[in-house]
Amino acid sequence: MNDPLRLGLLGFGEAGQRFAADFIKAGLKNVVAYSRSAAAANPSDTVRVFAASHGIEIAATPKELCQRADLIIAVTPGKAALPALRAVKRYLGKNHIYVDANTVGVKTIERIAALLEGRCTFVDAAIMSAVPLDGIKAPIFASGAEAARFRDVVAPYGMAVQIVGDKPGAASAMKLIRSVCMKGLAGLLLESLEAAQRCGVRDAVAADMAAFIDAKPFEQIIKRFVCGTAVHAGRRIHEMADSLELLKSVGAPTRMTRATHAMFKELIEMQMPERYNGKEPDSIEPVLTALVEARAAR
Ligand SMILES: NC(=O)c1ccc[n+]([C@@H]2O[C@H](COP(=O)([O-])OP(=O)(O)OC[C@H]3O[C@@H](n4cnc5c(N)ncnc54)[C@H](OP(=O)(O)O)[C@@H]3O)[C@@H](O)[C@H]2O)c1
Repeated sequence: MNDPLRLGLLGFGEAGQRFAADFIKAGLKNVVAYSRSAAAANPSDTVRVFAASHGIEIAATPKELCQRADLIIAVTPGKAALPALRAVKRYLGKNHIYVDANTVGVKTIERIAALLEGRCTFVDAAIMSAVPLDGIKAPIFASGAEAARFRDVVAPYGMAVQIVGDKPGAASAMKLIRSVCMKGLAGLLLESLEAAQRCGVRDAVAADMAAFIDAKPFEQIIKRFVCGTAVHAGRRIHEMADSLELLKSVGAPTRMTRATHAMFKELIEMQMPERYNGKEPDSIEPVLTALVEARAAR
């Protein structure tokens, strides 16, 4: 890798533009970006005006991007991860670090790793917050044998890379696992608040939920939710049955609540409440271990 850093963004949309601009603000001189529409744009087009006003160079071709950059961060839509890689692959060499920061499945990351094996350094990365909000400060998980090299070259500019494994796929898996909760939580909020809206109590319910979540560090809430759910599944399933009845009576959707009811049913079948005899364990570990074991024994 050349010194100083030469950065290339493969993809120049919301994430690529903000990262490029923030790297330049942080003092990096060599920032080049490629996207098909940016390459084809006229100087007066918004994307070119943005690039010019921030000192970002636009590469005309994938080949030029690779010639002018040593660290390439791919920020295309997930479905474009493989096609975008195929467009640059032949121009990558030993000096390149290719970082896939797209939101993609683990299998795709493993395919990209296999395609780049022996050609250049590859790092799997996952952007863990909204780039328009946090820009270059968005926490980034990274995995792969050379993830530390990526972390070390971007750290001076303020990009915070946390290494989460030595194999490509670990970072993307962590993001997808976290999404189960974050995106699911959004679905639960929508279902609950639509029912509240129908009943004319939307603001009061939203405020009550916000006060509950705000009152304690989220780590304590995780413990309470995981441990309390296992121990009190027998009692809570009745509450969910009543919630379901209420949702149906006001014509609200029930998809998420039916899933919660089914989850309680399964915990009862696994005899989780009996294991703890009404007393919540001190940490989430025994509950999760018991769940994995109970499922394996089925
Ligand atoms: N934005 C965020 O806050 C955020 C947060 C976390 C993760 N991410 C992830 O970061 C990635 C990029 O997100 P984004 O919000 O920046 O998406 P976006 O605004 O849709 O931009 C995608 C960019 O990729 C380019 N592109 C698409 N196909 C390409 C190809 N084959 N070769 C080269 N460039 C290509 C697009 O331009 P052309 O179609 O003209 O080529 C566009 O410039 C996604 O995987 C997303 O999940 C984003």
